[in-house]
Amino acid sequence: MPIIRIPGMIDPHTHLRDLDWAHKATFQSETSAAIAGGYTAVFDMPNTAPSTTSATLLEEKLARIDQAAHCDWGLYFGASQADNTGEYEDIAARVCGLKIYNNATTGDLLISSRAMRERHYRAWKTNRLIAVHAEGETIINILDLVRKYRQPTHFLHISSQREINLLAAAKNEGLPVSIGVCPHHLFLSEDDLPSLGGFGLMKPELKTKNDQRALWRAIRQDVVDIIESDHAPHTLAEKQSESPAYGVPGVETTLPLMMQAVKDGRLPLQRACDMLSLNVQRAWRIKPFPKTYTIVDTDASFIIERQNLHSQCGWSPFEGARVCGRVREVWIRGHKVYDGERVLSRPGFGHNLFGLAA
Ligand code: DOR
Ligand code: ZN
Repeated sequence: MPIIRIPGMIDPHTHLRDLDWAHKATFQSETSAAIAGGYTAVFDMPNTAPSTTSATLLEEKLARIDQAAHCDWGLYFGASQADNTGEYEDIAARVCGLKIYNNATTGDLLISSRAMRERHYRAWKTNRLIAVHAEGETIINILDLVRKYRQPTHFLHISSQREINLLAAAKNEGLPVSIGVCPHHLFLSEDDLPSLGGFGLMKPELKTKNDQRALWRAIRQDVVDIIESDHAPHTLAEKQSESPAYGVPGVETTLPLMMQAVKDGRLPLQRACDMLSLNVQRAWRIKPFPKTYTIVDTDASFIIERQNLHSQCGWSPFEGARVCGRVREVWIRGHKVYDGERVLSRPGFGHNLFGLAA
């Protein structure tokens, strides 16, 4: 399987930083890294500094990313504990969805009360989906809300056997849910923590080999819909400190890791491609732009090394891994934006896939 063409690869789960966290990464640096990783669009999470929790803060972020992004993009709005549901009508048309953090992670967005979670579900009346960070038992609470309000819900970074079983049952029940899984939970486990140190810390945490096997099984059984990177760049200093920040970068390593898995016979090629493109387009109800695709040489094998990465953070938890699948070209809306070595689009070339930007 040498040269393949993947239409409209989208990563629906990235933390591009910028704004007050530009020291970690910027819209410019990370959309550039995403293109080098084969993506034509990325969706940015709202746990930025400041968090994207009001129409005003969304406007500021829209204006900033609109002039900086090299690839197409979408922004999530963040549900806040202080009850920002009054903003929903205003902002819904311009965002890729509502993000609800139900477990603690980087940033200060956390909805810990069931009553407040329900308030957000009740108030979100658009056809944009809700994406949830829900770990373990919290998933049961969110599934109750999906059952009641029938709002399409994407479960981000599912990492354990128990979680995947709960969501497989929800799908069998006919609930409108989709499931995202991250490469770090597929290719790393808690056994790697001693060697990775701070570079192996993220939320949800690395799990057991048994959990990892359950994720792969769920991929083969078509239970998992999407492979998302949860690209979360932090500086080297932050990861090497006494209390390392949670999160790992991933937009440049996801595609080659999955292509290596195909080569190793862990899943069919078409299945891997669908989880990186078509299934995202379906879940977010996006009509892909014409002439938007990625050309990959699936035979080209290489070792992941930090000096070859474009992300501003300059490290990867997968350094040293042998992978295959070199991105040779990326095209967005008929424009060649990557030639295998250089990103060719200018900052601001990217479009908001959801409505008009500011
Ligand atoms: O490890 C993580 N890092 N998990 C998240 O949910 C957030 C992310 C970040 O923003 O750093
Ligand atoms: Zn995340």
